[in-house]
Amino acid sequence: MEVEWFRGQVVFLTGATGNLGGCLVYKLATQLPTAKIFVLVRGSVQKALEAWEQSMPEQVEDVISTGKIQFLLGDMIQPNLGLSSANVSRLCNEVTVVINAAGDIALSRSLAETMPINCIAHLTLAGLLDSFTQLKRFLHISTTYATSFLPDGVVKEQIYPLYEDPVEEFRKILVTGESSYTKKFAAPYALAKHLAECLLSNGDHKFPILIVRPCLISPAIEDPYPLYGSDGAIPAHSFIQILLKDSEYGPLQLEKELPSQVTSNEIPVDLVARVCLAHVAQGTTGVVHASADLYMARTIGELLELMHRYAPPGSEDRIRKAGIDQGDLTAPDFFNMIQQFARNWKIECARSAHLKKLPGPLGLDLADHDPEDFFRRRTELLAKVLFEKLDNATQAASKFHPNMS
Ligand SMILES: NC(=O)c1ccc[n+]([C@@H]2O[C@H](COP(=O)([O-])OP(=O)(O)OC[C@H]3O[C@@H](n4cnc5c(N)ncnc54)[C@H](OP(=O)(O)O)[C@@H]3O)[C@@H](O)[C@H]2O)c1
Repeated sequence: MEVEWFRGQVVFLTGATGNLGGCLVYKLATQLPTAKIFVLVRGSVQKALEAWEQSMPEQVEDVISTGKIQFLLGDMIQPNLGLSSANVSRLCNEVTVVINAAGDIALSRSLAETMPINCIAHLTLAGLLDSFTQLKRFLHISTTYATSFLPDGVVKEQIYPLYEDPVEEFRKILVTGESSYTKKFAAPYALAKHLAECLLSNGDHKFPILIVRPCLISPAIEDPYPLYGSDGAIPAHSFIQILLKDSEYGPLQLEKELPSQVTSNEIPVDLVARVCLAHVAQGTTGVVHASADLYMARTIGELLELMHRYAPPGSEDRIRKAGIDQGDLTAPDFFNMIQQFARNWKIECARSAHLKKLPGPLGLDLADHDPEDFFRRRTELLAKVLFEKLDNATQAASKFHPNMS
């Protein structure tokens, strides 16, 4: 049984302070019989604990009190992931499972900015793993947008080659910071993730690789708690917040431009974590999709209709008049970019279809979950957060311009 497979396993997890990583660490520590979880964190242990206090305030104690968590300071864009040599040897001698969930999901980065963490760091990690003496599994998290150069239609669970010579393409990008393929992808982030997939799977490594590609991640159904998820790592929420800074290119305008019949391609973060961990236990290798079909394949039109139905009265008017400034990407640029993400791909999820009948912490059988009620609660919470931001922005503006009301 999948849960039992984890008994005694020693896990090395990257990205543990992030949205998906936080959910994974919660499940690995509290729901599975793992022995130890090494987590690579940047800056300090204090900073990592603060991130968990913020993202899962009522669960962080449960995670820590398992006694399984071992913090290792590092930075994935440094040689040897910024780990001390003593910590590298601990990992080499003890780790049986590696889960690589670190990344930078910002779509505003140039190719040169996104490559270090979204491509080079993964190759550095894979290079280290060749000396891990106990390694049984390596899971790398990619994204369905790694294949966003494909035309509309079916996307299979496989690597799609693009470059004549991926190693040569990689070298070219390192030297020039650019690629002639960038415009084929929804964002430079997606190119970096695609190149990482190609180089990891073509590399001459001693260990088998599992690559899970989630689609757009949405709030959790259950783990660590219902509606867990930071808005910055939930694209539908961050898209709306970025667009709020411009009334001309705002969310209500975007709604008119998006193809309403196309699948919205969202999946709750805890379902992604279940897919990841179930396939780790099963020893799956190659590419696995964690996409909307494993939860609920709503169209963009259906999703927008539900948002309108459950947004508090007056929301549309407030959003129409909004103009808050956050981030460095202009709303018009962002507006164009989002449209690249709303394409008519049919993301196949056949390799996880059996999980829909499986209950428990690694299954996708959701028993009495009510998707519409869940969406209502999600929309209400999102509206509350947005209104707080709008109120804060209005207050800040009125300090500088006392005549504004
Ligand atoms: N969010 C989505 O909709 C989505 C969709 C598909 C795929 N994915 C993939 O899922 C994975 C996790 O993303 P997420 O949504 O959980 O993002 P997230 O919340 O932004 O988390 C990113 C994690 O990566 C860590 N990280 C970033 N740079 C690092 C560095 N130089 N060294 C070490 N750690 C570093 C962050 O640590 P700090 O706390 O120190 O910043 C954080 O723990 C990524 O591979 C992403 O591409 C995400």
